[in-house]
Amino acid sequence: MSAQPILLGVNIDHVATLRQARYRDVGRTCGGVIEPDPVLLALLAERAGADGITVHLREDRRHIQEDDVRRLRDSIATRLNLEMACTPAMLTFARSLKPDSVCLVPEGRDEVTTEGGLDVAGDRERVRAAVEAIGELGIPTSLFIDPEERQIELAAELGSPWIELHTGCYANACHTGRRSAEWERLRLGSDRAHEAGLVVNAGHGINYVNILEVKRLPNLHELNIGHSIVSRSLSTGIEEAVREMKRRMA
Ligand code: PXP
Repeated sequence: MSAQPILLGVNIDHVATLRQARYRDVGRTCGGVIEPDPVLLALLAERAGADGITVHLREDRRHIQEDDVRRLRDSIATRLNLEMACTPAMLTFARSLKPDSVCLVPEGRDEVTTEGGLDVAGDRERVRAAVEAIGELGIPTSLFIDPEERQIELAAELGSPWIELHTGCYANACHTGRRSAEWERLRLGSDRAHEAGLVVNAGHGINYVNILEVKRLPNLHELNIGHSIVSRSLSTGIEEAVREMKRRMA
């Protein structure tokens, strides 16, 4: 376990998923109450102890919108972590937004949520160019990758200071016999990344149960957690949902 407390980045994408389910075709100026507002929920999450707010501005704008991200940039007091695909349009957006960090993620139109890590090996030059372009803005880049040695080594080689280990396979394996093998893959990956000088974050599929095991991974700097916190907030409110996750992370 790391000596420092593990930080919590709250991913609020699914607050916008709920809003878009009803208001996709309505502009913010329609005059009615448009709920839920991701910015309000982000501010409440911060008040409850979130160390940062994470959003994924997807190419198809299925949940978070550009306007949400800009309002977050102007309102939150912690750090804004922008997850984005490695595309020229997103790089232009990041340049104008200046988030506190950028996490490069793969993006597939048909997926319900991000599935699998970035293939740094298969897309090396594009990832290198994006890491350099974002680094020139003074913004640290994180690469969302599977806990595979080759991907980790390449992340270090391309100069990305951070990685985010994809915990989705572990989370999906929690109800199968592969759970401890997947946890072990994450442990080895985290140690390998730490040895290579990378800051190790992790995320995807982390919930109030598996957090008790995830937090035992070595070298963890920050966890990005979305679905479970937003889901829990429907019954307890987001402040209690964040506080409970922080209690379990401690
Ligand atoms: N980290 C990354 C890079 C992601 O793409 C996601 C999902 O958007 C998360 C963390 C959060 O995953 P979850 O919503 O399952 O907690």
